[in-house]
Amino acid sequence: MRIETQRYTERFGHVRLNEVQKVLELDSGKAEENKVPDIALLKIEEDAFREYEDKMAIVVPVKDEKLKLFEGVISGVPHDCHIIVVSNSKRKGVDRFRMEKDALHQYCHFTQRSAMIIHQKDPLLAKALTKAGYHELLNDDGLVRNGKCEAMIAGILLATVLKKSYVGFIDADNYFPGSVWEYVKCYAAGFSLSKSSNAMVRIFWRYKPKVSAGMYFKKLGRVSEITNKHLNSLISFNTGFETEVIRTANAGEHAMSLRLAQLLRYSSGYAVETQELLSIFEGFGGVLPVAQPPGVKLGVEIFQIETRNPHLHEEKGGRHLQAEMLLPSLSAIYYSQLCDGYTRENIIDELVTQGILKQKNEEPPAPLMYRPPAEIDLAKFEDIIAKHLDSYSALAEE
Ligand code: GDD
Repeated sequence: MRIETQRYTERFGHVRLNEVQKVLELDSGKAEENKVPDIALLKIEEDAFREYEDKMAIVVPVKDEKLKLFEGVISGVPHDCHIIVVSNSKRKGVDRFRMEKDALHQYCHFTQRSAMIIHQKDPLLAKALTKAGYHELLNDDGLVRNGKCEAMIAGILLATVLKKSYVGFIDADNYFPGSVWEYVKCYAAGFSLSKSSNAMVRIFWRYKPKVSAGMYFKKLGRVSEITNKHLNSLISFNTGFETEVIRTANAGEHAMSLRLAQLLRYSSGYAVETQELLSIFEGFGGVLPVAQPPGVKLGVEIFQIETRNPHLHEEKGGRHLQAEMLLPSLSAIYYSQLCDGYTRENIIDELVTQGILKQKNEEPPAPLMYRPPAEIDLAKFEDIIAKHLDSYSALAEE
């Protein structure tokens, strides 16, 4: 793969925020000996991909998606990554979870690859979380709460049990296996370039097409545009210099070194990706007098990589996109300890304009927050899950 070098990096305390880097070539040919270094482009060799993919778990959160899409996504994940499917699909009536399990079993049997699948409402998962003290992740019924963020946290913990060093996320409703493949290659490319072991790679889609009368290759969704604007405003206020560096505030497709994933606070619902960035700025930005995460001096390096493939995913009709996606993302920014009065005021104006809040003296609801996984008793979680790991393997016979 050939991608642009990090031409410009914003610095926020110990956080290095790289501007978007474009992928130029998906396959850049065999390794060249005595290569003349190029200052504008970087070539990532096959060996580097192999090295990072082997250490990476790919978490696929899924809830009642079309099985064909789920199968396509699985087939796009490079072979050496360990797939972790966290499903919240229905079990009553048509048992969709069983269908996913069956499809994954067949696929892994023929491709001889490693994968595991667990239901979000698995009682053993809930028991392990209870023993580890992660009570806020559980509902009144004692099982894990609904939501993609909750599935991601379960995925991070399972990747820890599998002793992986990196964890990436891929939605299960992607139409193109080739895009999935490219996302994971971008994750590995970013990790191979990072100067810090605390690294994050966020995917910036080249296009996010909308299907209407024809197909229109749009670059950014409306929600992302608005969230980026307010997150950039928060950074600008804290650094004193206006910036537009953040282009991926809502990037569902992203990856982190496991070390970093364990240090972040998470926020429920669709605020999760925005909150990850806020948690990094709060912990590593050097502005707040908060307890600093261990190894703060190692800093964090964030990459935003623009893919060649467009992103085409399932559009779920019948829901209020602004209220379900924009409100949690903007609330996360609003309630961050780093948020200034100016950005807060603009967020309220935005929410009133969008018809989400009725009037300017209203405040958005505070997001539900989860402690960093590093603050729970990981050994207890591991102790319970490790004993049953084989039963979650995609190759386990029923
Ligand atoms: N396990 C689990 N549990 N998975 C879930 C749940 C849940 O409760 N809810 C949703 N998912 C899965 C879906 O099946 C899909 O694979 C993925 O999580 C994303 O959910 P969608 O509901 O399809 O999200 P979206 O397409 O509207 O939004 C995506 O893109 C946004 C940026 O444009 C998500 O990735 C967002 O997180 C992201 O901000």
